[in-house]
Amino acid sequence: MSEQPTTEKVEKKKVILSAIQPSGTITLGNYLGALRNWVKLQDDYNCIFAIADLHAITVRQDPQKFRQNILNAYALLLACGIDPEKSPVFIQSHVHTHAELAWLLNCYTQFGELSRMTQFKDKSQKYANNVNAGLFTYPILMAADILLYQADMVPVGADQKQHLELARNIADRFNSIYGKTFKSPEPYISRSGARVMSLQDPAKKMSKSDENVNSWVAVLDKPETVMKKFKRAVTDSDAVVKIGEGKDGINNLIGILSAVTGKTAEEIEFEFEGKGYGDFKTAVGEAVVEELKPIQNRFNDFINHKDYLEEQYKKGAEFALRISQRTLDKAMKKIGFIAK
Ligand code: TYM
Repeated sequence: MSEQPTTEKVEKKKVILSAIQPSGTITLGNYLGALRNWVKLQDDYNCIFAIADLHAITVRQDPQKFRQNILNAYALLLACGIDPEKSPVFIQSHVHTHAELAWLLNCYTQFGELSRMTQFKDKSQKYANNVNAGLFTYPILMAADILLYQADMVPVGADQKQHLELARNIADRFNSIYGKTFKSPEPYISRSGARVMSLQDPAKKMSKSDENVNSWVAVLDKPETVMKKFKRAVTDSDAVVKIGEGKDGINNLIGILSAVTGKTAEEIEFEFEGKGYGDFKTAVGEAVVEELKPIQNRFNDFINHKDYLEEQYKKGAEFALRISQRTLDKAMKKIGFIAK
């Protein structure tokens, strides 16, 4: 086994930080919008990835399932091709600096800014009986995650862009008061798969919190389940496989097929000219099944090697603490706290 990257190495290449919430199933949207890109970036950047478990408790979690979901998410990242020897992967709650910097940044973020976050608006409607303060301040914790590592770039799906802009604003505000402390991070949103939509209501993004299980495909769904969900996908009455206005369902399926096969939308339109939606949906389902198969096999392997997972998340947390503590200390000193 190669050695864990050193602190020095992080300073040479550009730094990438991203994270995923371990709330239930990880979807095809997470995979195409984020995870798959993370894998590709590992050689050219110093990547650090996190399982954002602190973020997940803004919505009530069943303790036993939560523990399992955190470990599953960890194993799934590795199964997707993240190599923890190259790109440390840690569990957010194992690294205390995140919650600490989040508190500091709370005091440099305006109520009005947070009120404009569309995810907060959506989630507070969805979980109307639990609109807790964490749901509101969630983007500040996300800013802390990013700024602690002086990340240059943050690979995410399009839905996280607004949160990233907020992180930049917080960094710029803090820097303008105290001098350069945080790097202002850039979003990295890949064109293909940036916004995978629900299979049942293609005007909405595919989300694991959607109660309609047919609206999302999980990376760990069995092949027959994947096929069934694609066959039931909502389309239109046009019966023409072509990108177009008012054809959200077909646009989404073409987007997914394109992301999975690397074919352009035009190539797909040409291939399915004169063919019905039934054939098309089957082809999309089959392509997704093929893409997910090796990931599922590797997942089964990793999840059965708990010792290996533990070794990796412990090493990941040690590494993350070393880097993030420096930034936290710097920020605290600038504010005027007395060093320990
Ligand atoms: P989360 O856990 O909801 O999603 C993880 C990643 O998947 C992307 N994604 C999608 N991409 C395309 N289409 C979709 N339907 C889709 N659904 C999700 C998300 O954009 C994300 O990149 N707040 C973050 C987690 C987080 C984080 C961070 C990210 C916490 N700290 C620091 C970056 C940096 C979240 O809830 O993502």
